[in-house]
Amino acid sequence: MNLNVSLANIKFDHPVFNASGPLCTTKEELLALARSNSSAILSKSCTLEKRDGNPKPRYKEFDLGSINSMGLPNQGYEFYLEELESLQEFQKPLIASVSGMSQSENAHMLRAFDKCNWLDAIELNLSCPNVIGKPQVGYDFQESKERMREARALYRGVLGVKLPPYFDFAHFLEMAEVLNQSGVNFVTCINSPGNGLVIDADSESTLIRPKDGFGGIGGKLIKPFGLSNVRKFRELLNPEIQIIGVGGIASGTDVFEYLLAGADLVQVGTAFMQEGSGIFERLATELQELMKNKNYSEISQFQNQLKTAGPVESGY
Ligand code: DHB
Repeated sequence: MNLNVSLANIKFDHPVFNASGPLCTTKEELLALARSNSSAILSKSCTLEKRDGNPKPRYKEFDLGSINSMGLPNQGYEFYLEELESLQEFQKPLIASVSGMSQSENAHMLRAFDKCNWLDAIELNLSCPNVIGKPQVGYDFQESKERMREARALYRGVLGVKLPPYFDFAHFLEMAEVLNQSGVNFVTCINSPGNGLVIDADSESTLIRPKDGFGGIGGKLIKPFGLSNVRKFRELLNPEIQIIGVGGIASGTDVFEYLLAGADLVQVGTAFMQEGSGIFERLATELQELMKNKNYSEISQFQNQLKTAGPVESGY
């Protein structure tokens, strides 16, 4: 059974790795990822300077998923530059997530990352929902276009963008047009739908503290939107732009569904946070089992081959 996949010129042993966010901020967390069966190492979105992030509690789980308003706590880009470089011996793709507080911060970081010949790719985050006073760039198409233009000019390696979820076909069309002219190599969809609210009835309180309890939603609840965004962008994007799917993946079947919808690779966020680094081995094994049961020996035999439900005579 062959689970190998590529992202531009980068080779992955299998299509499952970590989403930026959970458990990829500290030296210890990055080392644990390196030792795990994650097929790549993606670091926490970084800013120019170190940030402590929002007040706690700022990440909580509930029955259908998770809510977070971390506020970009990270060690500053130079830390990730050094830490990722030190993990080269693990021989898996090294990807940095970049999420500057401004375009000029991004420009500074991208110039620095461009000098790193060991770095495999950058995922430019256009969709952080949790920084107070900073709207999600991905919902402003003109601003997104500008950020991508600058990033493409400054970083010559494999470049992707992490997008927020879209919910309207007109918005998919508009963003696809921007992406098709941007020169980016991949898109990652979706970031957490922003500004959900989860309430604990017993304490009559919000689950998290920042922003009066509003935060990004992850986990099972968001899978239909992750799938729809992958599917729609696969239909609208130039074929050379690859897609990484993320949102609610917790089983081999979830991975399979994302690949069927058109994803080339997938990332795991909430379920990684819940289960720890053993999850990558489990998901790769479950995908392999599922493929065996369906008599598939290669991902290309089913990738992007989702069928639409056929007509029926009765019922809804
Ligand atoms: C944070 C959350 C995100 O969804 C993201 O893309 C970047 C940062 C955060 O709150 O730290």
